[in-house]
Amino acid sequence: YGRIGHWLTGEIAHHLLSAPAKEWTNALLPEYDGSLARAALWADEVKPPWSKSHHYVNPPRDCTALSPTNCNCILSAIGNYTTRLADPTTPHPARNEALKFVIHYIGDIHQPLHVSGRFKGGTEMKVLFDSHHTSLHEVWDYLMLERSTKFLGLSRTDYAQHLLSNYPSPTPCPSSSSSFSPSPTLPACPLLWGTESANLNCGLVWANLTIGTDLAHSGYYDVALPALEQGVVAAAYRIATLINAIVEMPHDAD
Ligand code: ADE
Ligand code: ZN
Ligand code: ZN
Repeated sequence: YGRIGHWLTGEIAHHLLSAPAKEWTNALLPEYDGSLARAALWADEVKPPWSKSHHYVNPPRDCTALSPTNCNCILSAIGNYTTRLADPTTPHPARNEALKFVIHYIGDIHQPLHVSGRFKGGTEMKVLFDSHHTSLHEVWDYLMLERSTKFLGLSRTDYAQHLLSNYPSPTPCPSSSSSFSPSPTLPACPLLWGTESANLNCGLVWANLTIGTDLAHSGYYDVALPALEQGVVAAAYRIATLINAIVEMPHDAD
């Protein structure tokens, strides 16, 4: 996502944290006063070159199953940083960074174009949106969410609340372990989350695209926005569920 997508996932996730999890994130993110909304943007602000490939996965083609084998991509990044975050022996600076990466990458994996290799995730797909020349990737990262906020006349905070009230909680991770899951006891299943995004690419993101029309006014926006908003809410639930579970782990009592 672009800025608003990450801000919204962090803000909604914050609402879904348990009381002990709120205390835990306050202590772990002193530089943000515990604000997940602001911490969610950090990974895009720093973006060292070695982390670039951690923001997405490029499957060889859309409409095929994601490969459950190793990659240097968003799937392994979520698994690895979740493991580091859940480990009570991780020293503070690394644990602080792990939390910021986990929040950000769980947001990104719910933006379907971060799970598409076509036109570099749509970054090289030129489109028209509300009379602006832009890329399909930017339409999904933030342009549709900004348009929706403006159309509803809501502040970002109220838009976050509106989304939380209008979309259901997502399907939980299965209790058996799956590829890229850090451990079967932690609710993180990036391969399944990525598969939901991959299915959206196949059925909606690219299938509905009509070249040469303004995507804000051609019907594309009306079909795409609910799918995008549902992903934002799903990401928020999954971030909060994961943090709540880590805080409840018995060996993390101190
Ligand atoms: N760069 C190359 N592929 C990308 C993708 N799917 N998302 C974001 N950036 C990318
Ligand atoms: Zn993006
Ligand atoms: Zn990113």
